[in-house]
Amino acid sequence: MHRNSVRLLVVSNRLPISLSRCGEGWSVEQGKGGLVTALAPVLRNRGGDWIGWPGSGCDDDLTPYLSAFSKKAGYNLHGVNLTEDEVQGFYQGFSNEIIWPLFHDFQSRCNFVPDYFRSYLDVNRKFAEVIAAHSTGDDYVWVHDYHLMHAAQMLRILGHARRTGFFLHIPFPPQDIFLKLPWRQEIIRALLEFDLVGFQTFRDRRNFLQCAVTLCRDLKPSGRGPVVHLNGQGRQVKVGYFPISIDYREFSNQARTRAAAEQADQVHAAFRRRFLIIGADRLDYSKGIPERLEAMRTLLLKYPELREKLSLVQIVVPSRETVQEYQTMKQRIESLVSEINGQFAVPGWSPIHYQYRNLDRAELVAYYRASRMALVTPLRDGMNLVAKEYCACNLSGDGVLVLSEFAGAAAQLQRGALLVNPYDTEGVADAIFEAYHMVLDEKRARMHKMQTAIRKYDIYWWVDSFLKAAFDRQLDDFPPQEV
Ligand code: G6P
Repeated sequence: MHRNSVRLLVVSNRLPISLSRCGEGWSVEQGKGGLVTALAPVLRNRGGDWIGWPGSGCDDDLTPYLSAFSKKAGYNLHGVNLTEDEVQGFYQGFSNEIIWPLFHDFQSRCNFVPDYFRSYLDVNRKFAEVIAAHSTGDDYVWVHDYHLMHAAQMLRILGHARRTGFFLHIPFPPQDIFLKLPWRQEIIRALLEFDLVGFQTFRDRRNFLQCAVTLCRDLKPSGRGPVVHLNGQGRQVKVGYFPISIDYREFSNQARTRAAAEQADQVHAAFRRRFLIIGADRLDYSKGIPERLEAMRTLLLKYPELREKLSLVQIVVPSRETVQEYQTMKQRIESLVSEINGQFAVPGWSPIHYQYRNLDRAELVAYYRASRMALVTPLRDGMNLVAKEYCACNLSGDGVLVLSEFAGAAAQLQRGALLVNPYDTEGVADAIFEAYHMVLDEKRARMHKMQTAIRKYDIYWWVDSFLKAAFDRQLDDFPPQEV
């Protein structure tokens, strides 16, 4: 653990919990995400709290249930409750209808409503008040993601001096796109109030630095390596890139269990031991699911000999169902699936098996194990952890990863994956064809490279690296990145 055991406050829009009804009350369990898996032991060891929104759908006061959880878990949870108007303006509006599409390069999907920004500021102030109430000037406040870019600025306005770091889990867009944002000055200046700003990739950091220097002409960048400095206005801000990852050992150990082997075998048998391709995504237009389905159509037209030989299992996890764009995307995916299946299916085989539901970890691991290829083709993605999870679960070592060059993961995995442009449906179809015919030695060599990199630079490495940068300690081991 770290020499300077400063208390840590982790802040994210959502608390990392799952809530379920328990008699008259609620049961609170720790969520299954990689972030909380890695941060919970850090919070327990250093002492620390996690602040966030418990989510919609529960009007009860959750304080007693969160306190009960805190006692069990060894770190404290504090809920920030949002009113219905705040959910509309701050979360669905500013976060999901402006920042999410813009930062993923979909400027035409943005809904630049001025009231959304006012709500965003109000909710960021509300979070800052809760942070201040549960911390002192000796603590370190680590804020996550685009919902809370104004948190450090609000802390200062409210008069609370804190050391703060921010990590953006999604991409940071190129300057030409970012400059479309009506509140571009406000957002850049707010980000510069953190002591450390972290991005997923070198490219995201470069985009941010360009925007910062363009919008704040007095800023001067200095330094080299994973963390550089921006100097100006009497302050120095550290700006770095820290590619996030998964708990590699946990995934690969789970894939090794007898239960996973049996479940994977059942999946395989259900598909008559055909060549399975896995696609697993949260429902989102950034994931490129319709384009991937079109690539499957192209594949079966261009290479008809592959019909009946392979199937795509496309899992779509429900998300943001109250946002119109997401409902439209779901309909589009479903009509494409039925159209393509209608075009090619024969008795006993259809090219696409579509599932719209939440899968538990065990099922997902079984699908990864049973699949000979993963198709990870987002149009834009901060990192994409499915790509890394698939590799961790590929025990045979002969799975092929077809990966979008627009996923953050491509910067790390490009020597092992087959990189594709997801808009080029013919190119994706050719990559699937190439993966299908790839010789075993090449498959193994590629998978080995990826597994070695992901095992080494896992989620624990990521937490450690960010905190080392936060506390000005030397970052001695860093993954090579290609731009
Ligand atoms: C992305 C974001 C997270 C977000 C998650 C789910 O991974 O980076 O911050 O929590 O999507 O989206 P939701 O809107 O349901 O929180």
